[in-house]
Amino acid sequence: MSEISEEISKRKTFGIISHPDAGKTTLTEKLLLFGGAIQTAGAVKSNKNARAALSDFMEIEKQRGISVATSVMGFEYKGVKINLLDTPGHQDFSEDTFRTLTAVDSVIMMIDSVKGVESQTEKLLEVCRMRNTPVVVFINKLDREGRDPFDLLDEIENKLSIKVCPLSWPISMGKTFRGVYNRFEKHLLSFQGINSKLSDEVTLINDIHSPELVDIIGEKYANKLIEDLELIEGVYPAFSRDEYLKGNISPVFFGSAVNNFGIKDLLDCFISIAPSPLHRETDTRMIEPEEEKFSGFVFKIHANIDPRHRDRIAFLRVCSGKFERSKFYLHTRLKKELRFSNPTAFMAQEKNIIDEAFPGDIVGLYDSGNFKIGDTLTEGENMIFKGIPSFSPEIFRFVINKDPMKSKQLAKGLEQLTDEGVAQLFTMAYNGQKILGVVGALQFEVIQHRLLAEYAASCNFEPINLYKACWISSHNSKSLKDFIQDKYTKIAVDKDDKHVYLAESAWNLQMAQEKNPDITFHFTSEFK
Ligand code: G4P
Repeated sequence: MSEISEEISKRKTFGIISHPDAGKTTLTEKLLLFGGAIQTAGAVKSNKNARAALSDFMEIEKQRGISVATSVMGFEYKGVKINLLDTPGHQDFSEDTFRTLTAVDSVIMMIDSVKGVESQTEKLLEVCRMRNTPVVVFINKLDREGRDPFDLLDEIENKLSIKVCPLSWPISMGKTFRGVYNRFEKHLLSFQGINSKLSDEVTLINDIHSPELVDIIGEKYANKLIEDLELIEGVYPAFSRDEYLKGNISPVFFGSAVNNFGIKDLLDCFISIAPSPLHRETDTRMIEPEEEKFSGFVFKIHANIDPRHRDRIAFLRVCSGKFERSKFYLHTRLKKELRFSNPTAFMAQEKNIIDEAFPGDIVGLYDSGNFKIGDTLTEGENMIFKGIPSFSPEIFRFVINKDPMKSKQLAKGLEQLTDEGVAQLFTMAYNGQKILGVVGALQFEVIQHRLLAEYAASCNFEPINLYKACWISSHNSKSLKDFIQDKYTKIAVDKDDKHVYLAESAWNLQMAQEKNPDITFHFTSEFK
């Protein structure tokens, strides 16, 4: 095997998707503990708390520093190099969260057993579905009185349109939670309450009818488990790794992250089934990770913590070959050769300068303004990676310039901040009015603060009643022209001069779709 193939086979790059409070930070921390990347519980949590406590604008800079540190958490477990990419929720929920999912090869979806499927999970899973990203499901908080596991699985299948296959199964829950039976490994994990060790108490139960099961969990729960397992066999398909890798079936695990229960089973299964870095599509051809020549794309840009220095960190996902420090690479959009003398890798909470990186790795590149989201670096080949779109925002405001003397600064600031992917800028086609669209409301405060601090530009935002911005296209150019003319007060252009339809409500959008069958309405900026 070549050096590159060997490195690729050792890597898994993934993200955790969940609704706030489902337990993502807790799970992240436990995974890092398993990987030996942190020594004490609380290390990730304290960052989260620091983030949550930050409210005034002066603190936003600090907050950005914390987010850089947790953007990528690399750790090793059983010889596998795992890159866990942060998908910020809570107030940090933004387009970055969506875009991070374009840089992973698989995800773990966490569901709170009490609350079931929640809205942010639905949105994030939609993004995963665009690339058929393989999903492993972890149902958390079994130590609480949650919903019936069959009901939860039904809800996951119905709301998220995915097929599931439970690989583990809970034995009761809440106060009477006894543990979990792992159908894959045929072993029983007994729940002992809070677990400070890194392993659960495991008993091999090859035959579910053996008296040993009754000895451990009692007759009542043993009978219920046998009954449940029979039902599962009848209802759910057998696990197939191929189907999982195609994104057609999701294995499900149950546990309790805060009690460190069921996490090792999840991680062990994850490293054996999750995909290694996959091929990626570009505008010219498919790129295989094993190719000798390096290629990669930028999926996230972070402004420097220190506002006096305008430089930023661009997060690059390596897609093929070997990335090397100080070598010249082609920035394909600018047709410019660039080299990076201080590329950084992220190991848990440390940043280190690295000499090389392989497919699946995320490299931080110091940038003085060359990068936009989606930019591609290669060893000379002229191509651009696909699948890193802008996502239709959900919250909109008019931008009102407060200081006419500073309109140039405002325009520049808005341009650069939108290059970073902080927000999207639309310009109304008929009167040139500027509208900013974001995914999470906090972004408006961040933008206002940064425009002032970094560009000396001040603006106000005025509310605008909009539901969605959709990119529009049509196979019939006349229909498209007519639609744009007809709806001229609802048409804007994005930064690339693509036409966007601004729908005031779900009903308006539906009507527009029904009345204009020739027009396709897209929810991301990338379409054929
Ligand atoms: P998030 O990143 O997805 O937002 O969730 P986070 O890990 O912060 O967890 C949210 C809350 O859920 C935390 O409680 C956490 O301790 C709790 N939690 C996580 N896993 C489990 C579990 O398996 N069982 C139970 N019962 N609770 C769980 P908190 O009170 O908000 O914070 P803390 O004071 O406990 O840190």
